[in-house]
Amino acid sequence: MIHSGELIQLVSPKGKRYLRVFDPDQELHTHDGKLILREICELNYGDCITSHLGKSYTILKPSLYDLLKNIKRKTQVIYPKDIGYILLKLSIGPGATVIEAGCGSGALTMALAWFVGQEGRVHSFERRPEFQALCADNLARVKLLERVVFHVRDIEDGFAVGEADAVFIDVRTPWEYLDQILDGIKNGHPVGFLLPTMNQVSLLLAGLEQKPFAELEVLEIFLRKYKPVPERLRPEDRMVAHTGYLVFARARKERRRVPVAV
Ligand SMILES: C[S@@+](CC[C@H](N)C(=O)[O-])C[C@H]1O[C@@H](n2cnc3c(N)ncnc32)[C@H](O)[C@@H]1O
Repeated sequence: MIHSGELIQLVSPKGKRYLRVFDPDQELHTHDGKLILREICELNYGDCITSHLGKSYTILKPSLYDLLKNIKRKTQVIYPKDIGYILLKLSIGPGATVIEAGCGSGALTMALAWFVGQEGRVHSFERRPEFQALCADNLARVKLLERVVFHVRDIEDGFAVGEADAVFIDVRTPWEYLDQILDGIKNGHPVGFLLPTMNQVSLLLAGLEQKPFAELEVLEIFLRKYKPVPERLRPEDRMVAHTGYLVFARARKERRRVPVAV
């Protein structure tokens, strides 16, 4: 049974998707006619609901991917293909404490909040209040807001939330904030960056080399989708050719030397 307040995704016969918080008192008006959402109370995910024009809509449980595709955006966002790798490299899991900047529209914030679980925390830094508000709105809609602590300020002023398990930075000039990042990350833990141009990557690498960071990695991720037609299996005509370059490093703040026994 699907309960009031749960997230649902209704998929039309032509594949159009409607993501909603289920409210049995609402109706959904579509090109295929009106859907009386109260009927969903008797149904399960995977079942169908029929419009007053006789069109069948499938009810799906939204995945995190669906939620990310649905966020309201006013900034460039990090794409799911990049987010997947970021989560692995930063080892984001239940109970983790993560610092990110800037939150922008909140695509990465949403994924981080999902994976840190109820016990984890995302400290999200953003200098523009209107983007922080947009991010909070996007998170509230999918009920992940309470896992995020927002800080509306410039990261030039530092993080001041203690040392996190991981840090991810998506701002235009990250090489200007390397000292602040070192203060905000546990020694030996991972730091990641996303940058849209190679020029920025070069400047960041030059900066990282001057500071106690190790294990540098630079990469980009290509995703090519295929038309799912068994007898004519081939790639789709278009793909997103460029999103951003990813850079990862480990903080190596000080070396503790173990005295040699004599
Ligand atoms: C590309 S957006 C981030 C998108 C976000 N990662 C997402 O996945 O939706 C970059 C954000 O960084 C913020 N920003 C840039 N420089 C900053 C700084 N020094 N301190 C805090 N926020 C900053 C901008 O206001 C902008 O909202």
